[in-house]
Amino acid sequence: MLIDTYGRVATDLRVSLTDRCNLRCTYCMPEEGLQWLAKPDLLTDDEIVRLVGIAVTSLGIEEVRFTGGEPLLRPGLVGIVERVAALEPRPQMSLTTNGIGLRRTAEALKKAGLDRVNVSLDTLRPDVFKSLTRRNRHQDVLDGLYTAREAGLTPVKVNSVLMPGLNDDEAPDLLAWAVEHDYELRFIEQMPLDAQHGWKRDGMITAGDILTSLRTRFELTSEGDEARGSAPAERWLVDGGPHRVGVIASVTRPFCAACDRTRLTADGQIRTCLFASEETDLRAALRSDAPDEEIARIWKLAMWGKKAGAGLDDPSFVQPDRPMSAIGG
Ligand code: GTP
Ligand code: 5AD
Ligand code: SF4
Repeated sequence: MLIDTYGRVATDLRVSLTDRCNLRCTYCMPEEGLQWLAKPDLLTDDEIVRLVGIAVTSLGIEEVRFTGGEPLLRPGLVGIVERVAALEPRPQMSLTTNGIGLRRTAEALKKAGLDRVNVSLDTLRPDVFKSLTRRNRHQDVLDGLYTAREAGLTPVKVNSVLMPGLNDDEAPDLLAWAVEHDYELRFIEQMPLDAQHGWKRDGMITAGDILTSLRTRFELTSEGDEARGSAPAERWLVDGGPHRVGVIASVTRPFCAACDRTRLTADGQIRTCLFASEETDLRAALRSDAPDEEIARIWKLAMWGKKAGAGLDDPSFVQPDRPMSAIGG
């Protein structure tokens, strides 16, 4: 079991498969991209499957999410999913993606054993998409979403970040569209995890702003804390249901007390939190032929160092060195 000093148990493993991305979202990375990890530094497919295997069989992990960067850029993705699906006990498996390329891979991923996908889409307007992501790929994302739903990678969730002056007027339109197409929409508060370190608290759209905007067109009824469990999204029924909308308010209403996550970066580092200041090197252990028991022991010890919370409100808060795209979203 992966338990921390506050008694929280991690049952959800997030695995970043690459730090690369084919978009350049302004709240994430600069136009020119970043200094990507070198190939020899990345975990191999075998190493990833071995670590997930240890997490599932010895450490109580029940759910595995593949992230990036953009995880569809990882050539071995379908094979990794297939091998993780064969583990005993078989974990729940999901993917967080920007949706580009999903049209081509959704069927194969479903067949390999993937349960569901979360797709990022911040706007319904192609021109705004281009301003936000610096790429003209809006239609690819819409196609990917549609194909994922048709392939049964459901519920398909859509993640939207609202940026002032760009798409902050779109919340009700996005919700009407998501309800129409049967996607579960969640708005995410922008977090200080951008590579440019340009985040400002007073420049972000808050959960409060989002709810006010949605309520101009919809009646929202809270689902309550019991239904939420350890999920980061607080959810509301839309116009009495059955559709729901979520808000992931990591900044103004952090959910750290219920956090059930542990993370593995593409270069084999354990992070106990998105905002952790330290990492634990599992790759070194793997590559020095440590047995499974030793790797499990290192992982447990790392979780023991998990902090109470992200600490965004602490005067001493400093943004982590690594951006979201390198940590895993
Ligand atoms: P499901 O609801 O089970 O599908 O999972 P999820 O919401 O965790 O999945 P997803 O990968 O789509 O995450 C959505 C967003 O939640 C991320 O992009 C982050 O903004 C936020 N998030 C995910 N993990 C963490 C975390 O450990 N801490 C904080 N503060 N935010 C997180
Ligand atoms: N703050 C909030 N969400 C972010 N994402 C990427 N960077 C940030 C940030 N700084 C979102 C993406 C995607 C998810 C994985 O994380 O839009 O939906
Ligand atoms: Fe790529 Fe995701 Fe960063 Fe956008 S937010 S540039 S899709 S890693």
